[in-house]
Amino acid sequence: MKVVIIIPTYNEKGNIERVIEILETKIFPQIKNHQMHILVVDDTSPDGTAVTVEGLMMKNKNLHLLKNGEKLGLGAAYVRGMTHAVEKLQAEIMFEMDADLSHDPRKVPEFLRKIDEGYDMVIGTRYSQGGSIPQNWGLLRKTYSVFGNLLVRSILMRFWIHDWTGGFRALRKEVFLKEKKELASFRGYTFQVSFLHKTVRDGFKVAEVPIHFTDRTLGRSKIAPKEYIAELLEYVIAARFWELVFSPFLKYAITGFVGYLINAFSLELFKIFGIHSGVAGALGAELSIMWNFTLNNFWAFSKYRITRVQKIPLKFIQFNMVSFGSVLIIFTVITVGTSLFGDTRLVRQLFLIIAIAFFVIPYSYSMYNIFIWKRWHISFLSGLQKMVG
Ligand code: GDD
Ligand code: MN
Repeated sequence: MKVVIIIPTYNEKGNIERVIEILETKIFPQIKNHQMHILVVDDTSPDGTAVTVEGLMMKNKNLHLLKNGEKLGLGAAYVRGMTHAVEKLQAEIMFEMDADLSHDPRKVPEFLRKIDEGYDMVIGTRYSQGGSIPQNWGLLRKTYSVFGNLLVRSILMRFWIHDWTGGFRALRKEVFLKEKKELASFRGYTFQVSFLHKTVRDGFKVAEVPIHFTDRTLGRSKIAPKEYIAELLEYVIAARFWELVFSPFLKYAITGFVGYLINAFSLELFKIFGIHSGVAGALGAELSIMWNFTLNNFWAFSKYRITRVQKIPLKFIQFNMVSFGSVLIIFTVITVGTSLFGDTRLVRQLFLIIAIAFFVIPYSYSMYNIFIWKRWHISFLSGLQKMVG
């Protein structure tokens, strides 16, 4: 397949020469099953980066240049470069790569092997086993990077992806074409995070390759983390919010609300029929649990539906245990409430609402996602360990 390595540049005269040299003479000859090309996207660098590249184009027919761009940031440069790569160069696979050799060109074949295995996007990660950030980064940059990534991972709730802000990636053109229209407005780190987030959201297969990020030796960095913090936070919080609203969460909440009504009405009904209140309570609860289990399985978590008949009894028992946990939580919170503010109907109702909104919903929704339907992968703790250690 045709592969285009896209390298955005702004004042990288010295670096671009070295990275092109290494790719052309050391890396490309190793790759037999793809046609390798390079596209430099230069935003009118005052140091004459473009002239250097034009010189190298004489002897390298697979080297291309998109020049005279207006400096609108890394995101805009990539969108422009990828559009050109797909439309003009017929790229099927593209790389994002820095010009300053922070990204080791020797990793390129490993990225391509993952693509060959069927992945849609391959990301270089500094924060998983075998990856690293530069020792000599100042404390501030380390902190920004480590906590920035941890924050993004936790807010987006996708813990199995270890590096959100990194800029060494390979992707199929289909990924770009699908996400393109939503990317244009993002800059710097937000571009990397939003691109990856949309890719994962849309179900593309993402693989990680551990990388050692080495600090540049020539020139200086153009991307200051602190400039992007507000923008990045705004993106992840808004993205997560809308995801929650339109995700299984809303369906889960509706199911739970109807389940609550079923519980309340059946309880009254059983009482009318003269059934002992304890028994009625238990029956009503179980009826609502069955409703919740079924609706969550076929509606809210339908993508992760439990279909194997043999598995259903065990899952249903687990589900009952989770529900029992919810009952305990409600009981505890109401007990705390009534002992603090007196045992009145108002206090009970108020603390029932508090229990459900602040404790039962986060608890049961997480339990369903982690244990019952296994929608969330939890490599979170191990990831945390690696980051600290
Ligand atoms: N065309 C163009 N236009 N290129 C740019 C621009 C721009 O506005 N801004 C930066 N670049 C180019 C640089 O010339 C370099 O080749 C590459 O983009 C990365 O820029 P650096 O200035 O070296 O960024 P960094 O080392 O601080 O950040 C790198 O690491 C981050 C993660 O720590 C990049 O890989 C980021 O994408 C990544 O998020
Ligand atoms: Mn750099």
